[in-house]
Amino acid sequence: MDTLIIRIGQLLTMEGDGPVKGEQMKTIPLMEHAAIGIKDGLVVWIGSNEEAKKISANHIIDAEGKLVTPGLVDPHTHLVFAGSREHELPLKQQGVSYLDILKQGGGILSTVRATRAASEKELYEKARVHLDRMLSYGVTTVEAKSGYGLDVETELKQLRVAKRLHETHDVEVVSTFLGAHAIPTEHQDNPDSFLQQMVDLLDVIKQEQLAEFVDIFCETGVFTVEQSRIFLQKAKEKGFAVKIHADEIDPLGGTELAIEVGAVSADHLVGASETGIHQLARSNTVAVLLPGTSFYLGKGKYANARDMIDEGAAVALATDFNPGSSPTENLQFIMTLAALYLRMTPEEIWHAVTVNAAYAVNRGQESGRIMVGRKADIVIWDAPNYMYIPYHYGINHVRMVLKNGKVVRG
Ligand code: NIG
Ligand code: FE
Repeated sequence: MDTLIIRIGQLLTMEGDGPVKGEQMKTIPLMEHAAIGIKDGLVVWIGSNEEAKKISANHIIDAEGKLVTPGLVDPHTHLVFAGSREHELPLKQQGVSYLDILKQGGGILSTVRATRAASEKELYEKARVHLDRMLSYGVTTVEAKSGYGLDVETELKQLRVAKRLHETHDVEVVSTFLGAHAIPTEHQDNPDSFLQQMVDLLDVIKQEQLAEFVDIFCETGVFTVEQSRIFLQKAKEKGFAVKIHADEIDPLGGTELAIEVGAVSADHLVGASETGIHQLARSNTVAVLLPGTSFYLGKGKYANARDMIDEGAAVALATDFNPGSSPTENLQFIMTLAALYLRMTPEEIWHAVTVNAAYAVNRGQESGRIMVGRKADIVIWDAPNYMYIPYHYGINHVRMVLKNGKVVRG
């Protein structure tokens, strides 16, 4: 049987158990001059470079002097959509806010128009390009939200595209139904009847196994805390795990709601209150922070990652890749933003893009760690150590990516 040995400079195993919370994020499990053995898509052996020389292998990859880590997990993206929104950039420069653009029928609603008009094939082809790019940046598992349909037909179209991508692409795609992403123009005066329509869709989504998670945008002018509570509770009753776009722009109390409903993750959290942070630290909800969005909204306001970690929360990082508030597939750039603006240490950052990100999409038992018996999702970096990635910013440091033990990039 085929055995592959990778000889490594610095190996981040991220070995451990469960999500990594608070203080624990400060220490990083690593081995210098290490090697790993891979067989049938799984990691079968981890040891020293010296020991590896004695093992007979069919293939050897020489990554001596280089950093090797688990494949990155991007736990919050809006992968499937049509069109783009570069015309909003000058508006932003003139001081028109994100929520004002949305109120005028632009923003999310302009992507909704484009997505409704696109065929399933067009959406698939476009999303595949974005997914290829994510893989090239070292991402082997990605969460993908719907939410640019806001009607039955188009939401299902987006979810089917995500499912097909999962089946056909090397990257694992975890699907989230975000039908409650905005109030579509035709329901402006009656958001509750729109939400009911989205609730009615849940049974079809379940039957066709089109999504594992349900998410809602809890924000001023979008959905209130009360509407979000009811919607997410219904989703839970129907057997979905839930997530929330919480306290992204205005501090409404979405963080507290996430804890109350037992969300797997609470995302954004820029305006999370002290009480919210306190509760988060005592819960099993992963805080998914999206500094790329804060950066791109340009208001200079970032999530309070320091208090979250110092109080004991499990923090993850994601791109929030979408055509409006964060048009980037580059999770490595997000790592730099986390260092500069969230004041996270390199050790905390690496936990946040591997193991904690995997827990944020219910993949903690499979992804985010390099351990014997686990699938071999691995990145080999053109970098000497883990600190180097957030430091040298704006470029792609990936040399090679393996998914399930197979070389898929490089
Ligand atoms: O996470 N806030 C809501 N959703 C996205 C933005 C979507 C868009 O602008 O198209 C976000 O920021
Ligand atoms: Fe988002």
